[in-house]
Order: sequence, then C-alpha cells, then structure tokens
Amino acid sequence: MAKIIGGITSSHIPAVGNAIANNLQQEPYWKRFFDGYKPAQAWLEQHKPDVAIVVYNDHGLNFFLDKVPTFALGCADKYENADEGWALKPVAPFKGDAAFSWHIAEKLVEQEIDICTCQEMLVDHGFVNPIRALYGTHEVWPVTTIPLAVNTVQHPVPTALRCYKLGQALRHAVESYEEDLKVVVFGTGGMSHQLQGERAGLIDVEFDLETMDRIASDPEWLTKFSNSEIMRRAGTEGIETIMWLVMRGALQSNVKVVHKHYHAPISNTGSGVLVLENTL
Ligand code: DHB
Ligand code: FE
Repeated sequence: MAKIIGGITSSHIPAVGNAIANNLQQEPYWKRFFDGYKPAQAWLEQHKPDVAIVVYNDHGLNFFLDKVPTFALGCADKYENADEGWALKPVAPFKGDAAFSWHIAEKLVEQEIDICTCQEMLVDHGFVNPIRALYGTHEVWPVTTIPLAVNTVQHPVPTALRCYKLGQALRHAVESYEEDLKVVVFGTGGMSHQLQGERAGLIDVEFDLETMDRIASDPEWLTKFSNSEIMRRAGTEGIETIMWLVMRGALQSNVKVVHKHYHAPISNTGSGVLVLENTL
C-alpha cells in the first residue's frame, strides 16, 4: 500500500528561482536561508520518497483570476513549468502519476472534498521553487510529483480548518492506494508577508515561530483562526501558510520533528522549513 512517510514545509519565494539560476546560494544574503534546507535535503536523500504531493497556490500562471478553483489536483503524467518573467529558463518538466492522481481524486470526492481535476496543469514558482530548494537542479527530477493547488489568491479563500480536513482526507486517499509507494507531502508558501497596500513589507516573527511550533505539536491551534485573523497577523499573502495544514492533516497526530529552521526577512517574507516524520 502507499504510505505517507512525512511532510516538509517551505516558502516558495520567486527570488529563490533567480538565486539558484545564478548560483547565489552561498552569497551572504542567501547563505543562511539555503543552509536551512540542508537537513531536509539529507532526509529526502535518506528516505527517497517515490512521490511528492506538492500543496501550493498558483499565482496566475495556470489559473487566471477569471477561473479560480478552490482546490485543484493535477491528474497528468507530466507537468511543465513556463515563463513567469524574471527572464529565467523554465525548469525541466516534472513526471506525474495520473493513475495515482485519479485514485486520490476519487477518494477525496468520496469523502466529500470536491476538487477540480486537471489533466493539463502548468506549475509556477509556488510548486517549482520548493522542489528546487529541496532537490537542487536536475534535468530528470528524482521524484514523481502530484500538484495540489489551493486558492490563496482570490477571495473567498478556504478556511484553515478546511485545509486541515483536506489533509486528513488526503491521508486516507493516499493510504488506500494499493501500490507500494513512499509518499511525502510538501506544504508550501508563507510565512508572514504582505506584498501590497499600506502594510506592504509586514513580517511577524513571533507569529511565524508560534505557527511553526503549533503546526508540529498542536495544528488545531491554527484551524481556530479565521482568515481575517490570520491576515491581520501574518499579512494578506501570509494566508498562504494555511496550505501547511493540508500537509499536517495528512500526517499522524504525534509526529517526530526532524528539522526546524526559520529565517526572516528573505525577499519579502518569513521563511520556515519543517521536516515532520510519521513514525507509525
Ligand atoms: C514573495 C513571496 C511569495 O510567496 C510570492 O508568491 C511572491 C513573492 C516574496 O517574498 O517576495
Ligand atoms: Fe506566494
């Protein structure tokens, strides 16, 4: 049977793509941020998951504002990155697993989590940059991927609680698949940031650090916040952190914290890397 072995969080800052493309990881500005990924890279290297389910938000590359699904699951055998500006070369395509995706789709809908299924899906920095930070640069990626997009861009955005419940349903969907696959779930985005308006530049380190602790040990804490409360504390784009709850909901209740690293500011955000392991 397929098994979820753990979950990893990562911000998905567009500037990370630029830093990697231009080999800036050891420059003073980026060094501490990228060093925070090393234990996560080592964990992936040690456990070698077959499939990564990447929970992220699209920022207008695949879904424009005229059509925004609340939850969208990639159901393809291949996902392409495309030009998002910055004059960066799109990264190599990602291998998908359409059969596994359709199983997940079926099981989610059975559990009353109604998702949009996408047989074609372009993946943007929200998906690509965490994978680049965690795996480095490859012409053939060492992991099969399944994109799970959450709308954090246009209101109404799903609640934190809804995201947590999606994660719980995702666990059942994955672990009812009969192929022996090791699966990791990536929760991307966040942490506190606001890119526009009067509060542009907002970062709340205290809230970010508490969120990281609670995601590990008491995820229901964050599910009790309304989206307005999260945005008041963490900024309008800080709402992206609700996607970490999809990852967390897919894990067992008591997880082993393998690694925790926080760095702020980087680009316009607070960045958190957590590696959580299922021990059962
Ligand atoms: C930044 C972070 C994001 O999550 C994003 O989607 C765009 C920009 C930033 O920190 O600059
Ligand atoms: Fe973002």
